[in-house]
Amino acid sequence: MIPFVDLKREYEEIKEEVNQAIQKVLESGWFILGGEAERFEKEFSKYVGVKYAIGVNSGSDALYLALKALGIREGDEVITVSHTFISTVDAIVRNGAKPIFIDIETETYCMDVTRIEEKITSRTKAILPVHLYGHTADMDPIMKIARKYGLCVVEDACQAHGAEYRGKKAGSIGDVGCFSFYPTKNLGAYGDGGMIVTSNEGLAEQLKMLRNYGQSKKYYHDFMGVNSRLAEIQATVLRVKLKHLDKWNEKRRVIAKVYNELLKGTEIVAPVERECTKHVYHLYVIRCKDRDMLQQRLLENGIQTQIHYPIPVHKQKAYFDLGYDVQLPVTEKVCGEVLSLPMYPFISNDEVSLIVETIMDPENWTE
Ligand SMILES: Cc1ncc(COP(=O)(O)O)c(C=O)c1O
Repeated sequence: MIPFVDLKREYEEIKEEVNQAIQKVLESGWFILGGEAERFEKEFSKYVGVKYAIGVNSGSDALYLALKALGIREGDEVITVSHTFISTVDAIVRNGAKPIFIDIETETYCMDVTRIEEKITSRTKAILPVHLYGHTADMDPIMKIARKYGLCVVEDACQAHGAEYRGKKAGSIGDVGCFSFYPTKNLGAYGDGGMIVTSNEGLAEQLKMLRNYGQSKKYYHDFMGVNSRLAEIQATVLRVKLKHLDKWNEKRRVIAKVYNELLKGTEIVAPVERECTKHVYHLYVIRCKDRDMLQQRLLENGIQTQIHYPIPVHKQKAYFDLGYDVQLPVTEKVCGEVLSLPMYPFISNDEVSLIVETIMDPENWTE
């Protein structure tokens, strides 16, 4: 069996370091918003190349709080994509605003920036691009349009820890960047966790209060906030793992190259890395016409795969009531063809070869 992802292999590599770090937190008797969270915030902001980082409970909360801090509220519109994890859009709706969906590029699966301007109205307040699968959206045109119309930009970098766009790290280009530390992410905690990054001091101060019941000091609440802090145990795990992130991303890139080479000359569409970007392959996503059959055949051969994502957000049952009547031809085509192959720094070359051999076996392409 080749699992889609195997976190046990990663743990084996850092077992001693991480066990010791967790032990220290246990012995400190301090579990929420202590020294470890603060140290991790400093290290992560330095890594991303911004002034401030604010640890929160999840990537979903990072997105929700970032939009809230930017003043997004009822009646506002936020331009985003439908080919993403549902949290991107939930964050807009939870703030009372309306998501305005635009289509994606066929090659990178990220926001098609040529579609932004036609959707801008007097109610548009922000653009929310997603750096999907570990590839950054085309940020220069996005920032240019945002400056022209006075809009905020929130980067959903939940799948793009360490990814780059023209030498800048994902999350550092817009007004705010949001990260998830869900365990399977390129930088993952041992539970839920998230981070908001920004170089805007006022925004950072507000976010620190928002995540902590709107407190300016203990039991003094200046506005309504939420409980969304980064636990000390998660922060200490993330501090250990951050030191390995670049090396692990590099391994992902090498594995992607091996897949790309082996898949050359087949009908499979392999992922693309745009010239000005550095893809970190959170997911290695191929595209093919008989996707469902291929997934079934791989499973019969002991190879787990996943689909990111089978239904675009605007067609999800959860959003039926909102009645999004939009035409997104690329999004709708792609979701029927994408297939994520196993991809993590600890998958072996033999496993990758076996996966590709199974894909290439003509037997697996006939009914
Ligand atoms: C693109 C994207 N946005 C948002 C999120 C939400 O992050 P979390 O699961 O930490 O709430 C995820 C994570 O799954 C994601 O992949």
